[in-house]
Amino acid sequence: MARILVNNSGPLNGEVTVSGAKNSVLPLLAATLLTEDNCIIEGVPSLADVHIMKEMLKSFGAEVDDSEDGIVNVKASEILTVEGNPELVQEMRASTVAMGPLLARCGKVVMPMQGGCTIGKRPIDLHLKGFRSLGAKITEEEGRVIIEAGPEGLVGDAIYLDFPSVGATENILMAATLAKGTTIIENAAKEPEIVDLANLLNKMGAKIKSAGTDLIRIEGVERLSGAVHGVIPDRIEAGTFMLAAAITRGKVHVKNAIPGHVRPIISKLKESGVYVEITDEGIYVDGSREELVATDIKTLPYPGFPTDIQSPFMAFLATVQGSSVVRETVFENRFMHVVELNRMGADITTENREAVIPGGKKLHGAKVRATDLRAGAAMILAGLVASETTEISEIYHIERGYEDIVSKFKGLGADLMKVED
Ligand code: UD1
Repeated sequence: MARILVNNSGPLNGEVTVSGAKNSVLPLLAATLLTEDNCIIEGVPSLADVHIMKEMLKSFGAEVDDSEDGIVNVKASEILTVEGNPELVQEMRASTVAMGPLLARCGKVVMPMQGGCTIGKRPIDLHLKGFRSLGAKITEEEGRVIIEAGPEGLVGDAIYLDFPSVGATENILMAATLAKGTTIIENAAKEPEIVDLANLLNKMGAKIKSAGTDLIRIEGVERLSGAVHGVIPDRIEAGTFMLAAAITRGKVHVKNAIPGHVRPIISKLKESGVYVEITDEGIYVDGSREELVATDIKTLPYPGFPTDIQSPFMAFLATVQGSSVVRETVFENRFMHVVELNRMGADITTENREAVIPGGKKLHGAKVRATDLRAGAAMILAGLVASETTEISEIYHIERGYEDIVSKFKGLGADLMKVED
């Protein structure tokens, strides 16, 4: 099993460039199934999850050419099967985003049970509620979900999401592009990744209005065509490197970060005394100017504080003066990193969805697990300031979502390496 070893590195300094967003590129690639024409997605990060998605597209019959670095060319002239490959689906929770495009294009999709990070139950009831509103019939048998459009095909409707689920919004958005009439998604997710997807779909000929607000309007069209589209920068990766500067009390210029996408992270870093400046090329973060102090965070759907930065931020809070409270409202089981941070001396307590971080702790190296993708990033951050070596196992989680993470950290002066047994 591969592991990452991290040593105390002192302040990180320098610049790092953020890659294309994992959470954008997966739905963008899935959207290419909506047309028989050629689609070109640019700025694609090299990640395990992206690899799985490309395999998935091929399994449905698409031709995928990724011979040029960062560019993926997809041509789904024909869909050969509407059934998700169980092994691929098991490996990646985000395979669910293939449901909307296949249902829209072929009138049917069959999906096995889901995989991905172990951060709670992560049901797909809202995705299914959306498909049902568009007239689809849903049956479940032997661990598979079978979704079939009615005799009229999909028909537009008003859909209220009980929670602004990112995946459900994406799936309904894609399904509705080819439905008859108008679809309205109420209480839609507003994440930048939704806007990115809508931008690609509109380039393909869809008629989507107000993506990025909580009420999205989609007028169905007969067919979609090919398009060329660049992926937005990864706001979670940007946040992770901003925290790398903060936790090590270093100075890092995070290039290619979009400030508007990371506002709550900027605010919370500032509240704790970190200097943050918006530059022409990204965001400059300096954690060395003041003594850093506690601040409370509460995760929320966008534009609130992102749940994906909760664990890296908690690692940071363990090192500042004073006690902070972290409240997780998006996922029901996203404190697994607490056990791991406590192995390093963080002394965090949890009750239900609330964690209390006493702060001011001198962390020490330990054998820890990357219990999920972002928890893995939290372990790296904690390892950078811990005495002795931190040994992180289960790093496949980290590689699912961070491109070249070891070399990017090394570029900032971090002392870490990946080892294979
Ligand atoms: C996406 C992101 C993930 C991020 C999350 C929240 C991708 C590939 N992943 O995940 O990194 O942490 O948004 O910002 O983009 N829920 C239901 N029923 C549903 C769907 C969701 O109850 O049908 C619940 C989930 O259990 C969870 C909450 O809604 O508690 C948020 O989930 P959702 O917004 O759907 O996240 P994902 O799309 O899975």
